[in-house]
Amino acid sequence: MPNNPYVLTFGKEPVEMIPRLSQSKDLIESFMEEKPSQQICLITGVRGSGKTVFMSTISREIASDNHWIVVELNPERDLLISLAAKLNSMNYLANIFKTAKINLSFLGIGLEVSGSAPLTDIESALIQMLEAIQKHNKKVLITIDEVSNTSNMRIFASTFQILLRKNLPVFLLMTGLYENIHSLQNEKSMTFLYRAPKITLEPLNIGTMTENYQQVLKYDYEKALKYAKLTKGYSFAFQVLGYFSWKYKDDEKRIYIEFKQYLEEYVYEKIWAELSAIDRDVAYAIAESPDGSISDIRQHLNMDSNQFNPYRMRLIRKGIVNGQARGYLYFTLPCFAEFVKESHF
Ligand SMILES: Nc1ncnc2c1ncn2[C@@H]1O[C@H](COP(=O)(O)OP(=O)(O)O)[C@@H](O)[C@H]1O
Ligand SMILES: [Mg+2]
Repeated sequence: MPNNPYVLTFGKEPVEMIPRLSQSKDLIESFMEEKPSQQICLITGVRGSGKTVFMSTISREIASDNHWIVVELNPERDLLISLAAKLNSMNYLANIFKTAKINLSFLGIGLEVSGSAPLTDIESALIQMLEAIQKHNKKVLITIDEVSNTSNMRIFASTFQILLRKNLPVFLLMTGLYENIHSLQNEKSMTFLYRAPKITLEPLNIGTMTENYQQVLKYDYEKALKYAKLTKGYSFAFQVLGYFSWKYKDDEKRIYIEFKQYLEEYVYEKIWAELSAIDRDVAYAIAESPDGSISDIRQHLNMDSNQFNPYRMRLIRKGIVNGQARGYLYFTLPCFAEFVKESHF
């Protein structure tokens, strides 16, 4: 039997991929404009919604244009030093820096450059490096996966703001959970991030998913559609359901049970642990409501609109709840209502 084509691991671009055509086109085009109006974009969404994979797809596509240099940074490290070191590790750029007599030896990067004093300040070093890059008509895209409000990030962001002010060709793409991005954006010194565009990952296309299940699992249209709908377009669920369907063939009951348990153990329990006691009560009221009507849910909770609204908004922003239909709330994640009913005491 050939290997299971669906993957249960996070963060790696899967073999079976449902493209996000419009969201990636919009982002790439906005960065590639001649005079881009935005040089930052934040990608947010619930765990498993596909943030890391989306960012990898975008960076690969941008990197294929030879005007662009893409640098991936680890948010746990000293981001400014890493950025300078990574740029300098590309032969082509190292030569440009050498010709421009940018001496990074004091910063522990690269060799002594004769005839110029070593730069002692990382920010000035980056400014000079980017000016040299700009002269060669290149642009730099920096990607950072899973950001949170750490001192490394705050230091990096404040320097990035200065690079932008100097009109240097730097672009920043970051992913993070809503609460982490929110906390970073609300730092007093981060007003420029507050205005940065945010992409909330949309559910994957159900039609394309249906076709994938038809082709890969050899399901007929009706069954493939039923399974695609069962995922609610949630990226991780698409892989998990595909995986167990491949593994257990026609044992629908077993597929469903393991699908649900896998989502719970790998995602839902973490989400649940991060909710406050009242968030959980609200989630429970949504799960119990027969049709998701907000007035029922509020009644169940004994809350008026003013009390209820902040909780509603937070669950929507975290990507757990969909509030697009006026007056109604639904969970965006498959089997989440059952999970909540089983977890809430
Ligand atoms: N566009 C996509 N099509 C199909 N599967 C996807 C897609 N994006 C992500 N996935 C799958 O969803 C899961 C979570 O993706 P990941 O990018 O790691 O999520 P996040 O970073 O938001 O937690 C992985 O199993 C991945 O293979
Ligand atoms: Mg990720």
